[in-house]
Amino acid sequence: MVELATSEQALRSAVGQAKRRGQRVGLVPTMGALHAGHLSLIEAAREQCPFVVVSIFVNPTQFGPHEDFDRYPRQLEDDCRQLESLANLVFAPTADVMYPPGFSTSVDPPCVATRWEGECRPGHFRGVATVVLKLFSLVAPHIAYFGEKDYQQLQVIRHMVTDLNLPVEIVGCPLIRDPDGIAMSSRNRQLDEDQRRRARSLSQALFAAQRAVDSGERNVAKVVQRMTEIMQAAPVERIDYVAVVDPETLEPCEEIDRPLQALVAAHVGTTRLIDNLRIHPPV
Ligand code: PAJ
Repeated sequence: MVELATSEQALRSAVGQAKRRGQRVGLVPTMGALHAGHLSLIEAAREQCPFVVVSIFVNPTQFGPHEDFDRYPRQLEDDCRQLESLANLVFAPTADVMYPPGFSTSVDPPCVATRWEGECRPGHFRGVATVVLKLFSLVAPHIAYFGEKDYQQLQVIRHMVTDLNLPVEIVGCPLIRDPDGIAMSSRNRQLDEDQRRRARSLSQALFAAQRAVDSGERNVAKVVQRMTEIMQAAPVERIDYVAVVDPETLEPCEEIDRPLQALVAAHVGTTRLIDNLRIHPPV
């Protein structure tokens, strides 16, 4: 089994030893229920860092009161088994290690957190930014790895690191999909067969957006309409947003005259899914 630290002291001692050996430390923050998307981040970390820490913590403060915190999959033993020979240390704190009685400080997230997920999930990015800053303080990694699956989250982290002068390099890693196109997610295991079929409409909408642009469409409103129709036809239970935005600021755009980011979020059954794709105009 991979070494497991559940307390701040055990974590600091193991990371301290690695640093004294002169090893570069990479951190991959996760909420567990690991899949190939997570493992791709860990592979990227292994290529650059001799000491890789994977944190596994289902962070309560980034879930809204009516969200799926209680049914979020938890499988620490399985996860540790998967990490054998991939990671050097798993940090899996309990909630009272991260949020002891009296805890009250939080990070006011950057502007890039305002729209999209920020609007649909009030308080979500405050929870994410705060827990990630705490993980950075605890592990003090040289490099931390985040997936483009959570595109807005990656931008929020990048801005926080710049704005607060945090001494950590952020590496963004490509979104990993299942063979049927669905973006890999721990939440996919909440889907039954029919829901999974309908969940494919998110990635199908994104791929259709690129095809529309390939065949000459430049108008964002038209592309968004086509994407919306595909998801409605599946059908999904509810669309939270369909957008084509500036990849840095996440502000909406009108014209696809340069590479832009297409973002979708929708509910399939009682599961909320997100996906995104960089859309390129033909050269
Ligand atoms: P979680 O959803 O477990 O994701 C952990 C990391 O894995 C994130 O950086 C996420 O973008 C990445 N990831 C998930 N699915 C992926 C996929 N299909 N392809 C590529 N990367 C993928 O994101 C969180 O946890 C939390 O918000 C966290 C940052 C840990 C803070 O609590």
